Order: sequence, then C-alpha cells, then structure tokens
Amino acid sequence: MDDIENYLPEKKITSLIFFVNGKKVVEPHPDPEWTLLWYLRRKLHLTGTKYGCGEGGCGACTVMVSQYLQDEDRIKHYSVNACLMPLCTMHGMAITTVEGIGSTQDKLHPVQERIAKAHGSQCGFCTPGIVMSMYTLLRNKNKIDFSDIDTALQGNLCRCTGYRPIIEGFKTFLEEWEYYYNGKVETNSDSKSPCMMGDDCCRLINANSQEKETLFNKSEFKPYSPTQEPIFPPELKMNNKEYVSGLTYFKGPNIAWIRPFKLEELLLLKKQYPFSKIVAGNTEIGVEVKFKKMVYPILISPIIIKELNTIQITNYGIRVGATVTLSDLVKFLDNFLKENHTKGKVLEAIKDMLHWFAGTQIRNTASLVGNIVTASPISDLNPILMASAATLTVKSLERGERRLTIDSNFFKGYRKVAIEEDEIVLFVEIPFTGNDQFVKAYKQAKRREDDISIVTAAFNVEFEKNMIISDAKLCFGGMAPTTVCAAKTSSLMKGKNWDQLLLKSVFDSLTEEFKLDSSVPGGMPEYRKSLCLSLFFRFYLHVLQIRSLNGTRPSNYELSGSYQIPALQPKSSQCFEIKNNQRTTSDAVGKPIVHMSAFKQATGEAIYCDDLPTLEEELYLTLIYSAESHAKIKSIDASKALDVPGVIAFLSAADIPKEHNKMGPILKDEEVFVSEVVTSKSCIVGAIVAKTEQTARRAKNLVMITYEKLEPVVVTIEDAIAHNSYYPDTYRQLVHGDVTEAFKKSKHKRNGHIRIGAQEHFYLETVSAYAIRKEDELEIICNSQNPAEVAHTVSQVLNIPNHKVVSKIKRIGGGFGGKETRSLILALPVAVAAYRLKKPIRGVLDRDEDMQATGYRHPCLIKYQVAFDDMGKINGAIFDVYANGGNYLDISPSMLERVMTHLDNCCKIPNIIVNLNLCKTNTPSNTAFRGFGGPQAMFACESMIRDIAAALNKSYEEIMAVNMYNEGDLTFYDQELIHCTIKRCWQECIESSNYWQRKGKVEEFNRMNRWKKKGLALTPTKYGISFQIDMLMQGGALVLIYCDGSVLISIGGIEMGQGLFTKMIQVASKVFDIDVAKIHISEMSTDKVPNSSPTAASVSSDLYGMAVLNACTTLNERLEPIKKSNPNGKWEDWISAAYLERISLSATGFYAAPKIQFNPKTNSGTLFEYYTFGVACSEVEIDCLTGDHQVLRTDIVMDIGESLNPAIDIGQIEGGFMQGYGLFTMEEMLYSPTGEILSRGPGAYKIPGFSDIPKEFNVSLLKGAPNPRAVYSSKAVGEPPLFLAASVYFAIKEAIKSARMDAGVDPEFALEAPATCARIRMACEDDITKQVKPTIKNVGRPWNVIP
Ligand SMILES: Cc1cc2nc3c(=O)[nH]c(=O)nc-3n(C[C@H](O)[C@H](O)[C@H](O)COP(=O)(O)OP(=O)(O)OC[C@H]3O[C@@H](n4cnc5c(N)ncnc54)[C@H](O)[C@@H]3O)c2cc1C
Ligand code: FES
Ligand code: FES
Repeated sequence: MDDIENYLPEKKITSLIFFVNGKKVVEPHPDPEWTLLWYLRRKLHLTGTKYGCGEGGCGACTVMVSQYLQDEDRIKHYSVNACLMPLCTMHGMAITTVEGIGSTQDKLHPVQERIAKAHGSQCGFCTPGIVMSMYTLLRNKNKIDFSDIDTALQGNLCRCTGYRPIIEGFKTFLEEWEYYYNGKVETNSDSKSPCMMGDDCCRLINANSQEKETLFNKSEFKPYSPTQEPIFPPELKMNNKEYVSGLTYFKGPNIAWIRPFKLEELLLLKKQYPFSKIVAGNTEIGVEVKFKKMVYPILISPIIIKELNTIQITNYGIRVGATVTLSDLVKFLDNFLKENHTKGKVLEAIKDMLHWFAGTQIRNTASLVGNIVTASPISDLNPILMASAATLTVKSLERGERRLTIDSNFFKGYRKVAIEEDEIVLFVEIPFTGNDQFVKAYKQAKRREDDISIVTAAFNVEFEKNMIISDAKLCFGGMAPTTVCAAKTSSLMKGKNWDQLLLKSVFDSLTEEFKLDSSVPGGMPEYRKSLCLSLFFRFYLHVLQIRSLNGTRPSNYELSGSYQIPALQPKSSQCFEIKNNQRTTSDAVGKPIVHMSAFKQATGEAIYCDDLPTLEEELYLTLIYSAESHAKIKSIDASKALDVPGVIAFLSAADIPKEHNKMGPILKDEEVFVSEVVTSKSCIVGAIVAKTEQTARRAKNLVMITYEKLEPVVVTIEDAIAHNSYYPDTYRQLVHGDVTEAFKKSKHKRNGHIRIGAQEHFYLETVSAYAIRKEDELEIICNSQNPAEVAHTVSQVLNIPNHKVVSKIKRIGGGFGGKETRSLILALPVAVAAYRLKKPIRGVLDRDEDMQATGYRHPCLIKYQVAFDDMGKINGAIFDVYANGGNYLDISPSMLERVMTHLDNCCKIPNIIVNLNLCKTNTPSNTAFRGFGGPQAMFACESMIRDIAAALNKSYEEIMAVNMYNEGDLTFYDQELIHCTIKRCWQECIESSNYWQRKGKVEEFNRMNRWKKKGLALTPTKYGISFQIDMLMQGGALVLIYCDGSVLISIGGIEMGQGLFTKMIQVASKVFDIDVAKIHISEMSTDKVPNSSPTAASVSSDLYGMAVLNACTTLNERLEPIKKSNPNGKWEDWISAAYLERISLSATGFYAAPKIQFNPKTNSGTLFEYYTFGVACSEVEIDCLTGDHQVLRTDIVMDIGESLNPAIDIGQIEGGFMQGYGLFTMEEMLYSPTGEILSRGPGAYKIPGFSDIPKEFNVSLLKGAPNPRAVYSSKAVGEPPLFLAASVYFAIKEAIKSARMDAGVDPEFALEAPATCARIRMACEDDITKQVKPTIKNVGRPWNVIP
C-alpha cells in the first residue's frame, strides 16, 4: 500500500475543496475517516446539525448537498445523512446546513418559521434535520403535493411531537396562497388579499375566524419564495472541470481515499490492490466501519466515472450504471413507466419497492449495485432482480468483462457474491416484461416506512396463451442467509393452472422448502414462514383479480387480501378554549404561545450539551462496558490501550476509593466503575481518556479484561421467577377489603394476565456530559433530568462538598424519564476524569452505547383474578405483579408503587389484593419512563375489564358503565376522588368520535372483508399526580429583575422539550402583567436553585409554577408602592424607580405541595395531589395476511384543567400518545438469552415515524374543569396521555377477533404487547398459520427472549 502513489497519475487533486453555506472550505489534509457530520460539528463548529444515531436511521444530521451537473447544466440538490457521508466525497460540492438558511438574528427561513410557529419543535433535537429535509424538497420542486412531503420526511424521526404539528405546519406549503405570492399565478391587484380569491382567501378567512381557536395563525407566515434562496457558489459551476476531471487522492493516517476519474484508473487500482474497497453511497460501508469495526485501508470512490453513472435503455431492458443512486433510478422509472407500463413490470415492482426502501436521504446516496453486492439476506431489491433474472456486468483489467446472472449461484453465502476481488461492477441490466407476465414484490417490516425487511418476496409468473403457467420464479429475502429462489416450488408451478389446486401445492411446497427452526437468527420463524405463504396468496389474488381467470372473479370479500393498506393523507383538529382572550394582552397564561426556544431550535442556534465549543486541552472520554452478563472480573490490562499515541488515561475502580465508588438514587448498590462482579453487560468496567474521540474509541478495544463466568444468568421475568431472583425487601402486599369474601359471594370469576416488554426511551440526544475543573471546584454540564442529583453524587464520589460542584444544563434533547437517574453512568466518570486530570472532559454516548446501558421501561407480567356479578360489577380482584428491574435497584420500588396505585385505572375495585415483586436480572437496570409503571398497570385493568365483558357476552362499554368511578368514590388506597371528570370525558369522547355509528360501520366493513379487518376501541385513563413522596414535592425559583425591566428566572427544573420554561415565563408574565418577551430563562443551574427534585412525574409545572408565582408576588409586593405613586407608569419606569429607591429586585420563590401524608401501612392518606383524566377512541385497520396495521382515526378528550398553554399541552398529549402507540404496537427491545441487548439503534428498534400517526387525529381539551390544586387551575399533562394509546392496541385486538371468527377459531386469545406485525399476523389464525406452525422445529436456544 505504501507504493500506491506509483499507480496514480502525477497530476492529481490532493486538497479537498467544498463550500459550506456559501463559504469556501479548503482542507489540505483531509482524513478519509472523517464524516461530514464530524467535520461540520467539530472543525467548522456548525453544531446545528445533530448526531442522533450515526447509522442513517434518525435524520438528525440531515444537510443538503448541491452539485453542478455539467452535462445537464443544472444544479442537483439532495438531502443526505451527514453521519454516513465521508467528508472526502464532498470535493466540489456545496453543503447547506440549517445555519445556512436562516437565523433568529437575520431572517428565519419559511421552513424554520413554520415548524416553530406550528409548534412542531419541542426538545428541538430533531428539528434541524427535519427542517433540512423539507428545505431540500422545496429547493427541488416548484409545486409540491402531500406525497412529496411524506416522502421527503421518511428518513426523519421525532420522539417528542407525535409529528402532527410538523405535518400541519408544512402542509401550509401546499396551500394556494403560496403560489399566488410567488407570482406563479396572477394576483388580484385591487385587493389587499394575498391572492386572487380576494377577501375570500383561505389565509385571511382562517386568520380572521372567530369561531374556533387555532394553534397557529398562518396569515403570519412569510410566503416562500425560491428566488430568495442563496445561489450556488459560482466558482463550483465555472470551474467545474477542475473539480471533476482529475483523480483525487487523500491520504490519512490509516486510510487512503482515491476518486479516479477514468474507468481504467479504477481497474488498475483494483488489480494492484484487490483488497481495496469500492465506496458508492457508503450507506453499507459506513455502518460496517462504525459498528462492525471493519477496516478498509484503501477506499475507492467511482462516483465521477461517467460510464458508471448513466441509465440506458436497450432492446432487452434497462442498464443501470453502478453509481446511479436509488433516487435517480426512481426518477428515471417514474418517467419511463408512464409510457412503457406493459414491458416495465419488473421496473414497476422496483419502483414500488423503492418507496419503502430506507428514507430519502439514504436513497439519495445509495446505489442499486451497492445493494446487490452487499448481498444482505434481507435486501429488498435482490429478490426482484433474482426473480427477473437480471444480470450484472463486471470487469477486471486482467480478464475483461463478464456477465453474471443474479441467481442462486450468484449469492455464494452470507454477504458473499460471485464477483472476484479485482472485479468491479459496471452496470446491472434489468429485463423488460411480456404481455402475459405478472411481477410483484412485497416487503414486510416492523415499521411501514424506513425499515429493513423481515421478509421480502418477489414473484414473476408468465402464462401461455391458454392461461397455463409457462414460467415462474418465487424469490425471497429473510428466509435464509442469502436471497433465495424457491426453486422446487417455482418449477412445480410450470404447466399448471392458476387455481386453488395450484395455491395448495404452492403452499405445501413452500412449507417444505423453507426450513426455519426456533433458533433461527432474526427470530420469528413462524411469522417469517407464514409470510412466505401469505405474500404468495396476496400475489395469487392479485393475478386472479386482474385476469379474472376462467371468468371467475373472486368476491370482494376474498380480494381484500390482494392489496396492502393504502397510505392516506393525515388530517387533524384541536379543540380548546382560550380563557383569557378578553384580558390584557400581556398576560400570556392560557394562550398557545410558541415554545420559547422553538426559533433557536429551528435555526440550529439552540445549544445542547455536546454543542458546547471545544476548549483547548479538552479530552474525550469513552466508557468500557462489561463483556459478560454475570461474571467475576479476573484481571484488567490497559497497557496496550495506554500505548496508543494520544491516550491519556485509563480509569477504573482502582481510581476511586471504595467508600466513594458508589451510586444509586435509593440504595447505593451501583459502583461508578465495577470492582469485582459484573451483573450485566451494561456495567461500566473502565473508561479511556484520550486527545480525540477516534483515539479513545479505538483504544478502548485494546483494554484486555478477563472474566470468570458466573451462573445463573437471569434475563427474563420467567427466569427470575424460576431462580427466585428478587430484590430483597421490595416485596410488598396491599390488602384492601375482604377479597376472600368477595370471591366467595361472586357468581363469576376469571383469570388472566398481561405481558409487556421493555421500551427504550430513544430520546434523540444521547447521554452526554462535559466537566471542567476550576481550582478545587467542578462544573459539570450533563443532559440529566436531575442536575441536583448529578452535583450531589459527583461531590460524594469526589469526596468534596456539594457547594464546590455546580451542575447545569440549558436544555436536553428529550428525556422521558431515561435521563432521570441513568445519565450518571457517564457524568460520574467524566467528573472523576476532569477532577483527576485537571482537564476539560467531554463524553457522549454513541446511540448503540446509550441503548445498551441506560435502561428501559420495566417489562411487566401482571396476573389477575377477578370476581364479578351478572352485571359485570367487580367485587374483588387479586393482582400479582412481576416487574423486571434489571441489575440495579435504581428507582424501581417507586415505579412499583405507581403500578400498584394504577391497577384500578378508572374502575372501582372494592376488595383487592396486590402482590408486588421486583425481579433482579442480569440485564441493564430499568428505570423511569413516561408513565412510570402506570401504563403497565392500567393495561392490566383494561384487559381485565374486557375479559369480564367476554365472559358475560356483554360489551366492554356496558362493563365500564357499571364499574367506572363516580365523584366522591374512594380508591382502594382510600383517596377520595374530587373533581372526578372521567365520566364527562367518556361521554364527550363517545359523542365527538361518533362512536356508536362508527362501531356499526366497522362491523359492516368486517362482514365485507376477509383479509382486512377494522377495530374500534375506547380507553379511559386516570393518572395520579404526585411524586408519591412528600420530600420531592417541593420546588424553588429565583427571579431577578434588571434595571432595564428585563426579567431573568431560574428554576430547579430543566427544559427537555415539554415547555416548562415557556410555561414559567407565562406565569411570570401574568403576575407582572408584562410581555413574555421581557422574561427569560437561560438554564438550570444548581448554584441558582439548590436541592431540586428531578424534572419528572409530570409535576414540574405545578411545583415551579407556584414557586415562580411566589417569587414574582414577593417582587410585586415590593413594587406596589412605586406603582401606586405612578399609576400610569410603564413597567420599565417602575423598575427604574425601584432601583433608585434601593428596593431589592431579586427574590426567591418556594413551593411545598400540601402534605400527602400517605401511610402505606394503614393504606390511608391522600397519595395524589389530584388526577388527570382522559379518554381516547381509536379505529384501526389491520392486514390479516401480514399483520400490518394503520390507525385510521383517534379522538382524545382530556381534562387538563385550564391549560397554561394549549399548544404545549396538546403537543404533550399528541407526543405522549405516539410514544404510547410505540409501546403498544411497535417498539420491541430484543434481548439475547444471555442478556445481550440486540436492539442497539434505529435500524433494529423502531419508534413510530411520520406515516404512523392516526390518519385523523382529533384532540379536545375538556372545558369548564378548573383544577383548584395547581397553578392557575392547570393540570399536569406530561405522562397521563401515554396510556390512551392502548386504545389502538385494543382496537387491533377487536379487529383480530373478527378475523378469528371468520376463520372459525376461538375469538378469545392472548396478545402480548407490543402488538407487532408478527403478533398480529400470528393471532389472525387461519389455514396458513395452521399449516406452518407445526413445521417449526424446537431446537437450541431461541435467538431472542422477552425480558
Ligand atoms: C438507514 C439505512 C436504511 C436502509 N434501508 C434499506 C432497505 O430498506 N432495504 C435494503 O435492501 N437495504 C437497506 N439499507 C442498506 C443499504 O442502504 C443498501 O444496501 C444500499 O443500496 C447500499 O448502496 P451504497 O451505494 O450505499 O453501497 P456502499 O456502502 O457504498 O457499498 C456496499 C458494497 O457494495 C460494493 N460496491 C459498490 N459499488 C460497487 C461496484 N461498482 N463494484 C463492486 N462493488 C461495489 C462495496 O464495495 C460494498 O461492499 C439501508 C441502509 C441504511 C444505512
Ligand atoms: S445521526 Fe445521522 S441519521 Fe441519525
Ligand atoms: S422535538 Fe423532535 S425529538 Fe424532540
């Protein structure tokens, strides 16, 4: 490799030149290991572009790349994932980041303005990426429609908003007035109206409408004008040749990057260095390098070789060059297929498939050839290419060209193809189709959009004139280590008729041909096998439908199996009241004002922990996790790691005195660095500190740790029960009433259980920390929900007083409970390193590190026995709760307490026994997650109610009617329900959703369709508001007024997107009667407000709202004489006068909530301050053949008192609902039987995406329900809505029930949560599942287990 330059032309480009936001960047020594994201953030300090996952799966790093195409004389703009983009590919390109399109200082771009004003930015961490995806769309297309927006955002995730507000904000770009404004249509010159509709313009009508409150006013929006966009750097256009007509060579310390200009140069290099790696879009290689630690010393980028970048039409088919991107292919196919439909059936299948292939950013860079050569067994395109016998033409310098058919011989093994090392692919040739040919491809994934397949199938069948099959190829992905053709089945089809007999023989043959056993990698053997048959059945119906073979067209009932659930455009409504409309304009309480940071978040100016500028001397810390789930540490040898140049230190338990090496919020049962025994793979054994992140990450793999394995390794709840593995002293029993008697006197009894798995928080910003030692003090900035606990624990570990440690944070990119205690696993090592080494230390968990170690929502098994009368009235119930706590106690006992108190949900249970068991397992410690055990408990209650309904053959609604709480009822923990609005919410939801009428329609639909079923379900919620511990129910604030009248507030809570700072500013605005623009909250810092509780349990607005109110009232009282003496003065006059009169203009505020005085022993007292109530009604459609589903409509009615800010509160309701939707339908953490976390990133773990939102989403805030127990009659809202998403789960269950009845199987069945596509499909039992199930052999250990 050292002689590589001998094979390169003398004249070559060695300096990397590109433009960023219009500015030229010259990098004389680019390292081929640098990604564009790293360079933007670390070298150019453009931190608006975020790191969310590093694997192309979240879109937080989206930027726009612009390139001049000389041959077409046009500029091509496309969005990319900067995290996967090698910096070296940027030569000659122009990059636009979120900072380049607008700023709060100059001018916001309309995309930035609209996402902010439509309330589409909560924590804001996803916002820049979403802005850039939308921006790129607008730069590319003059007139867009909704499907363009839908496609453009496929590759972006948001964990906070629930997507609805983002979509609503961006939908305004589709409105007519945009086009009038832009001069694309003549405007009416006499009118002041923005468009020719004059005063009827929709923009004005909506703005002037008094009838209904709206969350945003689109008449404020600046119209979008493409003419205002920055121009493409003229230099790149004028001197284009200089950038693209020579070989480019960049040499880094470990890797050489070559971008040949000519094909011959490429072939020569491949001959000399057969091990060199060709990089096209880098979407596969980038992931291999980062996560599989692959090392490729020579990377060759062929992207400017002209021959490889064209699509040609030949007599036989189309030739797609090796570097043609998938997006360019789609564009070509769109045009080509308009006129060549008949001969383009394979092409059509490819085009359709590409809609479901990754997200736009990936498709914009990934190539078809890259997909083929990667040879992933779950490639979406290879089955189609195999089914159509497409060919690859490859070439080497030695042997010239050869043509390979993509068939079973081409795929040699797992990710191996029949291409020699020195060969490169020139193009792939995809054949045309004949008139009597049918081609279809199907993909089934966990999430409909941007997800890799579980199974893909491509079917290609040709008929002779007499309707006999002349040729057939059925190809599959996801069924073996390679893409496979079901050869036997394909061949038996030849000569047969397309009829039931054929169907049966294909089913039999496929069942025989694919052999999956219970240990198959990827799991789900029964589902995968069933899918093969189900997808063929879909194809069978499709062909029947088109050809009406033998004159017999199947009924519509049957044909419901022939199509996928169609995508629909979402719509929504929000119903709320602005109570203070008539009041002074300064009072912001109750108004839907925009999140105070939204504009900064939309422009990338908002600063998160890892956006802090790098300091000179700064070092980087990375954690070393245990390699075993349960083992004794025998030895640690870090010498090799310490030898790596740039490595500064290795830290371990030896660096902290034993008595200080402790942490844990309730019990100090964790060590900062484990000293002797590791109890899960999330245990931190050590940390490497180095000069750069790359060095630290490389060196940590060189630390040699030996272990002695210990038994048992307990992973699941069932394992824990078997091994009697529980946390000591955590078992708790609550007994209320006389359960024995209740069971004795009840005519009916029923047993049941619920099982729900772990849920990952998937906050977009991973855990990060930054610490600086100042003299003997330490400042630590950590994205924790509990900075006070960070400071406190750091002081204990460092053995210095708390007043020497300041912990602060401006905002965090989502928390959801995941950063309440677990951020400490990074914060403490970072603090120890900073204090010992006296250097600033930065640490940021990679997404996979974060997901492997920071814990999840507790998986739960809840068994219940219930006794009831003929009416369904519950007399008594017994609940046995088992929660998987993981390897440390953390705050699991408090979580269990909440499980206990939410087992009644909205029903009165007069006699009850609850047994609480906390399982100790060798898995990462589970922790708080929005709802904190409440959703699991309420899920058990709702399942129980439905079981009662089934037992009595009554409706669920009837059972709810006899059991639902009334005003004044006592709960089983003896709390009186005051202001109980659950029945009002219930009634309003039934009415607003038109429940009864729609229920009839759903039944009608189900009668008419065999393979699509609908379900409709109501679900209520009652969520208790309190930490349940008096100590935590306190909050402090500090309010400072400066001479110019501006106000600075500090509170003990943190901002994580939930709008806490905004609400506090609104409260202060009301007390002072001043505009919110005069008030600011900069950050949370423990040197302003001490000893604060975690920002959690939904109570922060209640606690800090009162504290702010208290401080502001104190200040108001001091100002009173001044105001009296100058009643007509302005705020600024009064403040200035107060200053002159030496009146203190700062005040602390404090609030201690009324004592709950709950006594667990006597089960008496008032455990909760109050309850938040709500009801949801959801309608779904399921696909019985694949298990796919779509939420057609959700209606929510919630009592949140008098909302402080309806926009923020509705955002919490929708965001909480979507997170709950993930919990109940999609999000499945996979664990290996040995305790390894298999779901380590967005590729493997699916949170809901844009297309998953209910197609109609109506949220209504209950009117006339003020809450006397919280600030300005408001209510807590963060956690309560999450459980409402169980309505989707129950609607799915209803739909499955209908399918089961059609199939003649028992309509009652167990369905574990989440109701994934696999579980839905397998619950829709039919002949296919019956045929497949017995063929799965039970061998070895399963690939995954449910924790
Ligand atoms: C977030 C994400 C989502 C994804 N979703 C999907 C999905 O839905 N469906 C799916 O099937 N795949 C998916 N993938 C996988 C991946 O995007 C595809 O495999 C892609 O087509 C690879 O193309 P590329 O150009 O980026 O390949 P690269 O990463 O550049 O290269 C891949 C392989 O091809 C080789 N190669 C490339 N060009 C040549 C050539 N001319 N001659 C010889 N060898 C060559 C490379 O050496 C390398 O071995 C996804 C990947 C990511 C990161
Ligand atoms: S950080 Fe690039 S896609 Fe997630
Ligand atoms: S606002 Fe989208 S992730 Fe927080």
